[in-house]
Amino acid sequence: MKSNNNVVSSYLILFLATFFFTSVTSEDPYKFFTWKVTYGDIYPLGVKQQGILINGQFPGPQIDTVTNENLIISVFNYLSEPFLISWNGIQHRRNSWQDGVSGTTCPIPPGRNFTYTLQAKDQIGSYFYFPSLGMHKAAGAFGAIRIWSRPGIPVPFPSPSGDITILAGDWFKLGHRRLRRVVESGHNLPFPDGLLINGRGWNGNTFTVDQGRTYRFRISNVGLATSLNFRIQGHRLKLVEVEGSHTLQNTYSSLDIHLGQSYSVLVTADQPVKDYYVVVSTRFTRRVLTTTSILHYSNSRIGVSGPAPPGPTLDIASSVFQARTIRWNLTASGPRPNPQGSYHYGLIKPSRTIMLANSAPYINGKQRYAVNSVSYIAPDTPLKLADYFNIPGVFYVGSIPTSPTGGNNGYLQTAVMGANFHENVEIVFQNWENSVQSWHIDGYSFFVVGFGSGQWTPDSRGRYNLRDTVARCTTQVYPRSWTAVYIALDNVGMWNIRSENWERQYLGQQFYLRVYTPSKSLRDEYPVPKNALLCGRASGRVTRPF
Ligand SMILES: *[C@@H]1O[C@H](CO)[C@@H](O)[C@H](O)[C@H]1NC(C)=O
Ligand SMILES: *[C@@H]1O[C@H](CO)[C@@H](O)[C@H](O)[C@H]1NC(C)=O
Repeated sequence: MKSNNNVVSSYLILFLATFFFTSVTSEDPYKFFTWKVTYGDIYPLGVKQQGILINGQFPGPQIDTVTNENLIISVFNYLSEPFLISWNGIQHRRNSWQDGVSGTTCPIPPGRNFTYTLQAKDQIGSYFYFPSLGMHKAAGAFGAIRIWSRPGIPVPFPSPSGDITILAGDWFKLGHRRLRRVVESGHNLPFPDGLLINGRGWNGNTFTVDQGRTYRFRISNVGLATSLNFRIQGHRLKLVEVEGSHTLQNTYSSLDIHLGQSYSVLVTADQPVKDYYVVVSTRFTRRVLTTTSILHYSNSRIGVSGPAPPGPTLDIASSVFQARTIRWNLTASGPRPNPQGSYHYGLIKPSRTIMLANSAPYINGKQRYAVNSVSYIAPDTPLKLADYFNIPGVFYVGSIPTSPTGGNNGYLQTAVMGANFHENVEIVFQNWENSVQSWHIDGYSFFVVGFGSGQWTPDSRGRYNLRDTVARCTTQVYPRSWTAVYIALDNVGMWNIRSENWERQYLGQQFYLRVYTPSKSLRDEYPVPKNALLCGRASGRVTRPF
């Protein structure tokens, strides 16, 4: 297992362990990272662009961690603008302070630093981190996160001969500031200029494999705008993991990966010795963008040949069909030794239903996006800090309805929905638009119990998978369709629920779920970290530990 952490002296470890004692569990090991965030020239599509680099790298360094490890990540912002990193899929148990979105955490000002203290508590699987402010995600500063199982916890497949990360996504030649001006002026983003795999375009990566061996590919869609299809010429993909869930090991010839989603597949190099295309292409777009990398058999002298194999494009039915085949392996272990299936999510009756409908209203003559007619606007003070210091006037709980109000009208609001700790909730994402949606919930994984077309009704529950669907943190919603999820609200905090389509997210298709308990116990939630940056109306407050 490789890692690129900087291990500091034990004296500093002791100091930091004391410093962060309120937010990390002392018996679990620590890993330390120092990240310098800078601008740098990148040429992913052949033209020079200003990228955002981490330690000089685009994409950023990969994080390798083991279940329950503590990650101490010091981020130094050398940009001329505020910066934050968020961690797609890391659940931050009791600790939404570390989530790194503008509703939980003050931006790191230019020239300053902030140390995140994360813990992959009871988690395994494949995820990624990304810059959460502005359109920074269009310039880089994203990277893979791999959470490995602890030694002795069974993994339901033989250890592969290699573990290959694919960060794929659409890409724009316009810089992140230009893209931000486009959306802020009330226009839609242009169609992307291309696709990248690990920061490179056409045949920009070579993955070398030995004939007869099996490799794990972890694929994440880190793009801004489009669903992707992934495939490898002449090879089968055996699905083994989806955002921390071990799946039934079905084989596919190609896999749809929606915005923000991550999948692991096993690929056996069982074909004649030569080179093959690794392909990603856009899904559900009239113009299809494609890019390739090379799967190189180690003793091959024959380069890739023929056209890259085509994949599905506009067809939706096949995507829905595939989505329904992605299921939990009930007997496989997850992060703990006991089988995943020993948690019977289908037997837990939700106490209420939240229905979330996306829309694309014009507000004050500008294109916005909304949830239940509310288009989110960021407050001057992070919600989490305002809540902690009881600063009035920043937000109010219930500022977004829990079901659609009808119509395509919208209004601007700092939207916060209330929920109680330990509530079990059914969330129905209802999509009346013609585009595929991708929804992410921070702080949780949820069970995707159903996909259906048209309007969801209580009768739709008759077709739920209450036995073996996967738990994950990002789900797609097909055009004019619904997706239903079950979620056990066992993590107190202020949690971002957002579109993973970055223009939609930026223009308001997001809100925060405040999972609340009146208890002030450390068992339920950590207090504000001592090193928290303070901004807005929280500036100058004193962060007292308990
Ligand atoms: C990091 O930030 C803290 C608080 O803002 C500051 O005290 C410290 O000197 C900074 N560290 C470095 C190495 O710049
Ligand atoms: C489920 O996991 C078990 C390991 O617990 C494995 O032996 C089995 O092959 C898996 N089943 C499927 C259908 O993937």
